[in-house]
Amino acid sequence: MRHTSISDLLKSKPVGTTVNIKAWVRTFRANRFIALNDGSTIKTLQIVVDFEATDEAILNQINTGACISVTGEVVSSQGSGQDLEIIAKEIEILGESNPEEYPFPPKKFNMEYLRKNAHMRARTNTFAAVLRVRHALSHAVHQYFNDKGFFMMHTPIITGSDAEGAGEMFNVSVLDKKKPPLNEEGEIDYSQDFFEKETNLTVSGQLEAELAALALGKVYTFGPTFRAENSNTTRHLAEFWMIEPEVAFANLDDNMDLAEDFLKYVIKYAKDNCSDDLAFLDKRFADEEKTKPQNLRSDMGLLEKLDMVGANNFCRLSYTEAIDILRNSKPNKKKKFEYLIDGWGADLQSEHEKYLVKHFGTPVILYDYPANIKAFYMRLNEDGKTVRAMDILFPGIGEIVGGSQREERHDVLKQKISEFNIPEEELWWYLETRKFGTCVHSGFGLGFERLVLFVTGMSNIRDVIPFPRTPGNADF
Ligand code: 4AD
Ligand code: MG
Repeated sequence: MRHTSISDLLKSKPVGTTVNIKAWVRTFRANRFIALNDGSTIKTLQIVVDFEATDEAILNQINTGACISVTGEVVSSQGSGQDLEIIAKEIEILGESNPEEYPFPPKKFNMEYLRKNAHMRARTNTFAAVLRVRHALSHAVHQYFNDKGFFMMHTPIITGSDAEGAGEMFNVSVLDKKKPPLNEEGEIDYSQDFFEKETNLTVSGQLEAELAALALGKVYTFGPTFRAENSNTTRHLAEFWMIEPEVAFANLDDNMDLAEDFLKYVIKYAKDNCSDDLAFLDKRFADEEKTKPQNLRSDMGLLEKLDMVGANNFCRLSYTEAIDILRNSKPNKKKKFEYLIDGWGADLQSEHEKYLVKHFGTPVILYDYPANIKAFYMRLNEDGKTVRAMDILFPGIGEIVGGSQREERHDVLKQKISEFNIPEEELWWYLETRKFGTCVHSGFGLGFERLVLFVTGMSNIRDVIPFPRTPGNADF
C-alpha cells in the first residue's frame, strides 16, 4: 500500500478508509497515543495504539525520533485539537531511535542549541516551519517573474572579476597551497592555476544579468552569492541567496515600482499558502517578544507586520531628506546613535535605517545617495554628486533590497571606472554593452534570507537557512 502524507490526509479526510502513514515519532504517551509528524505540515497526526494487541518489542521501539510505518483506519477524532486520528492495525519500525541520545526530546530548546544540531533541527516545529515558508517564498519569486515575462538567467558562481566591489571575496584555486608557483615579482602566478587567471566566488550576478537584459529585455537571477566580510551580525551570512532582476528601458521610478510590487506579492503568497506555519510562527514571535524589555518590543505582531507591508505604499524619500530627519532626530541629538549623523555624505548604518522605518511606520525606499558611498555602475545624477541608487528598508531588518538605475553612458561609465581605480581591462565586456546599443536600464538585489527573516519573524539570519556559513562556522 502506498503511503499518504499527513498533509494530504488532513485535506482529503478519508474517514472510514485504511491508509498507510510513514513518519517520525514526536511523542508516545500512556502506551497508547503516538504523535507523528512527516514534515508535510506542521500538524501532527495522532495514532491510537491497541497496546494489548501490539507486540511488546514494537511498543518498546516507539521512541521520540524513531521512523515508523503505520497502517490503520482513519476515524474522526474524539479529542480536541485534531479532526482525524488513526486506529493502528499494524505498526512497523523503519528506523529506531535511542531516546536518551536523540538530540531533540520533546521540550523547548534555544536557537543556539538548534544551530549546534543543525543536522537534525528540521525535525523541530520551528525550523521545519521556517523551511516550508522558505520554500513557498522561493516558489513565489519564480512565479512572480515568470508571470511578468521575465527570463531566469543562471549567472556564473566562479568569477574572474571583482568588479562589483561589494566586499571581500573567497578565492577559488587549485594551486598547491604549500608551494604555489610564483611570478618574477614573487607573487602567486595564477596563470598556472586552473582557469589561468585569479578567480573568486561571485558576490553578485548583476553585471552578467545586465548583459542578458540588454538582449532579452527582462531577466532575473536567483543564485548563491558569497561575501568574505567579517560581519558577525544577525543579518549577515558569508553565503546567501540573492534575487536580482534587471530590466531594459526601466528608470529608477520603474525599478522602485517593481521592487515594491514584487515584495508585496511574495509576502502575500506566503500568507496565503503557509497559514498553519505562519500562525505557529506568529505565536512564537509573540512569546519571544514577551521576553524582551518593554522598549525593545515590536509594536506589531508578525502577521500584523506582514499585513502592514501589503496595505501601505512604501515611503519614498531621498537620501538628502533622510539625513535631515536623522540629524534632527532625538537619538542623534541625545547622542544615542552609535554613529552620529553630522552632515550630508555619511553612510547610513542599520541603526539609522531602523529609525527611519519606525519614524514612518512603513517600509522606506531611500534614493539618490552620494556617489562616493555607492558602486561605480550607478547612474550619475545631473548634480554630479548623487547617483540613482535605491535601498529598501524594512521593519526590524533595515536594508532588504539594494538597487539602482545603471550608468548607460559609455563615457561617464569609463570615467567612473577610472575614478574607482578599477582596471578597465577587467570590465571590457561590460563596457561593450554601452558601446553597442546601450539603453536606460535598472535592477536590484533582494537578499533572500533577509526576506525569509522578515516573513518568519525569526531574529537571527542563521535560523532561516539550512546550513549557515558565517565567520568560523562551516559545519555540516
Ligand atoms: O546591496 P547589495 O550589496 O547589492 C548588490 O549586490 C547589487 N549587485 C544588487 C543589484 O543591484 N543587482 O546586496 C543586495 C542585498 C542587500 O540589500 C541585502 O538584502 C543582501 O543582498 N545582502 C546580504 N544578505 C545576507 N548576508 C550578507 N552578507 C548580505 N549582503 C547583502
Ligand atoms: Mg547594499
